[in-house]
Amino acid sequence: MMLSHRVGRACHVLVLVLCLSAAEDFDWSANNHDSFYYGTFPNGFSWGAGSSAYQTEGAWDKDGKGLSIWDVFTHKKGKTFLNDTGDSSCEGYYKFKDDISLIKELNLNHYRFSISWPRIMPTGIRSDHVNEKGVKYYNALIDELLKNNITPIVTLYHWDLPQVLQEKYGGWQNISMINYFNDFANLCFERYGDRVKYWITFNNPWSVAVEGYETGEHAPGLKLRGTGAYRAAHHIIKAHAKVWHTYDTQWRNKQRGMVGISLSGDWGEPVDITNQKDIEAAERYVQFYIGWFATPIFHGDYPQVMKDFIGRKSAQQGLGTSRLPTFSSQEKSYIKGTSDFLGVGHFTTRYITQKNFPFNRGSTYFSDRDVAELVDPRWPDPGSEWLYSVPWGFRRLLNFIKTQYGNPVIFITENGVSEKMMCTELCDDWRIQYYKGYINEMLKAIRDGVNVKGYTAWSLLDKFEWDEGYSERFGLYYVDFKNKNKPRYPKASVQFYKRIIKSNAFPNQREVENWKMKATETCSTSNQLLAADPLTSHMEMVTEVVVPTVCTLCILISAVFLMFLLRKRN
Ligand code: NOJ
Repeated sequence: MMLSHRVGRACHVLVLVLCLSAAEDFDWSANNHDSFYYGTFPNGFSWGAGSSAYQTEGAWDKDGKGLSIWDVFTHKKGKTFLNDTGDSSCEGYYKFKDDISLIKELNLNHYRFSISWPRIMPTGIRSDHVNEKGVKYYNALIDELLKNNITPIVTLYHWDLPQVLQEKYGGWQNISMINYFNDFANLCFERYGDRVKYWITFNNPWSVAVEGYETGEHAPGLKLRGTGAYRAAHHIIKAHAKVWHTYDTQWRNKQRGMVGISLSGDWGEPVDITNQKDIEAAERYVQFYIGWFATPIFHGDYPQVMKDFIGRKSAQQGLGTSRLPTFSSQEKSYIKGTSDFLGVGHFTTRYITQKNFPFNRGSTYFSDRDVAELVDPRWPDPGSEWLYSVPWGFRRLLNFIKTQYGNPVIFITENGVSEKMMCTELCDDWRIQYYKGYINEMLKAIRDGVNVKGYTAWSLLDKFEWDEGYSERFGLYYVDFKNKNKPRYPKASVQFYKRIIKSNAFPNQREVENWKMKATETCSTSNQLLAADPLTSHMEMVTEVVVPTVCTLCILISAVFLMFLLRKRN
């Protein structure tokens, strides 16, 4: 009797505890994908747009800049779509004041850009040389932003490693990158930290590791399957931690800024939400993505599931140790807690199911996960092959981050959608749809209690899209790359985003529908301007080249004729 009473009480407590936690937790089984939530963003929520140095600056060899791995990679044949390079890209190096006017026009609170390491340290090594002209460029950019009341959010590493470091040491395969990167970061804190208060150490290290050192689709183009990505990631995580400690011990008191990292991750949803194998596979997909970096930074070590899977597969291969490197206990405590905020880049979602990869076919990062990715054919995919619009995945990823990493402060550092190169349509209805859906799911996540402080639309301009060259356009502004002046034209999404920012809310259905209508009204004028562009650039050519040449010729001919007359007279 006593026992059953006790069991009864214990059950009661258990049920209560479950109910309490269920009240706080996100409901993972709910399928409310299509509902729209009208509500307001928190006061002071920061709205922005982003770019990165190699993708927009151009001026690849100007004013003392050194080579980056992307300069070298893109100059090799066959590495990018149509062998496109970022040599001139949007000419952002020269047009940054124009771009700040666009940012003003959008009424943004912040602008996210990255510093090109070889622009300010041509070899990547501080003791070799600091390029003052490069330093000056970012000073001017930061000052101009602040003058216009726009907060700079600065990324230190958006993939453009100095080529010398790649050639001499093997880039991120080598442990020495940690100190070189720390020296570079330290110089940035020293020169810009009086004005920059938000620092991002690395942008999307997943891509650096997997696409740079495992598949070779990105610079430096190495295919070190099964080991390269893990090694690169290991050094990147340590480099991040070191830079955070440098800021913490040497600069924080004086400068009062924040240092974080920007991680990108797709959401992985189980194909069958009632199937345990699918649930575990989907969790593994996310852990191998964002968890690979976030777990060490928030908890001190790699996700257990990565250690288990890669460890087991390495043993099956007959290797004495795991292909996934390990952190010593000192390293674990040094790395744990090294993010004042978490930057989140997110674009798309996959359905995930369990799939065993036999190890005799060779091990790769992809076969280590034992998952298969699927997409719903009904998901819209206007641009990049990999990018399906699945707004609800965003809310799920944000809730995952909240529960896994102790509800950190989050800045959305990248979110957006592309269209194909040939598309010169400025009435980008699909982008409006994408932003509307994704920003709304972020608002729902904030209502769920996720601590999101800001949102960065990716990207301000169309720009160089890595191995896809200029074939995929992510910009709010269209850039005419064929015209040497690289003029910018607003797409309809500019008007739509502007209205979200102004209201800091999705007020009600009528209003939001109205925004959409107004946005599509204005874009037809921009379309006309763009259509007239070949004519305008033709006329520019006439005034800039033909007229001066003809005038010079006339003057020369008249001079010769005059001389001839004078001689004749004498
Ligand atoms: C993430 C990268 O950080 C960014 O540079 C790129 O433009 C977007 N993905 C879209 O592919």
